[in-house]
Formats: sequence, structure tokens, C-alpha cells
Amino acid sequence: MLMKHIFEKGSNPGAPVLLLLHGTGGTETDLLPLVEMVSPGSSVLSVRGNVLENGMPRFFRRLAEGIFDEEDLIFRTKELNDFLDIAAGKYDFDRENVVALGYSNGANIAASLMFHFEGALKGAILHHPMVPRRGMTLPSLSDVPIFIAAGKNDPICPAQETGELSQLLQQAGATVDIHWENHGHQLTRSEVEAASSWFQKHL
Ligand code: MLT
Repeated sequence: MLMKHIFEKGSNPGAPVLLLLHGTGGTETDLLPLVEMVSPGSSVLSVRGNVLENGMPRFFRRLAEGIFDEEDLIFRTKELNDFLDIAAGKYDFDRENVVALGYSNGANIAASLMFHFEGALKGAILHHPMVPRRGMTLPSLSDVPIFIAAGKNDPICPAQETGELSQLLQQAGATVDIHWENHGHQLTRSEVEAASSWFQKHL
């Protein structure tokens, strides 16, 4: 299914394409200002979640705060992965050179892409992610660098869950760097700066 999105071609054709994934209630314009800070030359594909919760866009349904609708999560993850294949053809970018930058619900669908599809992402910046699904075998994530920004006092994603997510990704072969903040679930400027330095080093 088509997903509402924005594509902007970057000045550096070799730089990874940044896949922007907003948080609950956001849209495809929310994270655009971060591109300048993280990878100014990158092309950008910013997608709007196809699910509505009381009028708020999301990338998959949930039954309650922190309790995901697993069937919908699986369906929506495949939908997004298929959309990436289509977009790569349409906009003529390298499907193997896509790095996700997601916040909250957007970080969760980015993590879910890596949980379900080998090679879906070349790397990922996850701001305040959770464990998308438990009890499954992950595909190989060797050579996939992942940056996680988390809040020690995040009421939506407890610090322990950040550790659990990091461990699952590392067990699948990913390299994970965690940056800790103390501002709850907020996406802060300092964590974006940390993501930017990480990006310059790893991608
Ligand atoms: C989710 O539902 O994905 C998480 O609880 C984060 C959010 O509120 O979007």
C-alpha cells in the first residue's frame, strides 16, 4: 500500500538515504529539521504512519500504552518494508543504503524492520525505542550500526527495556551505542547532536 511521504534528493549521492519515522501524533514533516544536523547531504524519505489512533498517525496499532498489537505490527512492518522497495525504484536510490532515524513509535517500527527483514536497514538512529516484539529469532544484523538515545527516567520506555533491546540487537550481530539522557521521553537537541557525531563515525 502506498504511504504518504516526502522525498527530497540530497546533494551527496553516496550518503545514506535517511528514512524519517515520526512519533505518535506526528507527521512526515516533524523530523525534517534533524537532517541538517545529522547528514546534510543525504536524500530524505520521510513517511507518515498509516494507522490512526484517535486521529493521531502511528506506524502500527497498540492495545494500550506499551502493549502492541502484534498482528498489526507484523503487517505494518512488511508494508513499510515493501514501500521502501517501491520508493527505491521510483526515486532511484540504493535500497541497501537506507538508514532509519525514528522517534518513539517511529523508532519502534524501525526496530521492527530490523527484527523482521534482513538487510532492511544499513543502520539506525533510534530515539526512545522499545522492544517491538519478544520471543522471536532475529535475522543477522552483523555490520549494522545502531544508535539508541534513551531517557534514564523515560516513563514510556524504562531504562531496563532499553538494555533488553540493545542486548537483542547485539545478539543478532549489531553494534549498538546507547546515549543516556535525563529528560523523560523527550527528543532533545543534545541527543540529536550525539546521534550526529555517532553518524559521522559509523556511516
Ligand atoms: C508506541 O506505542 O510505539 C510507544 O508507546 C511510543 C509511543 O507512544 O508512540
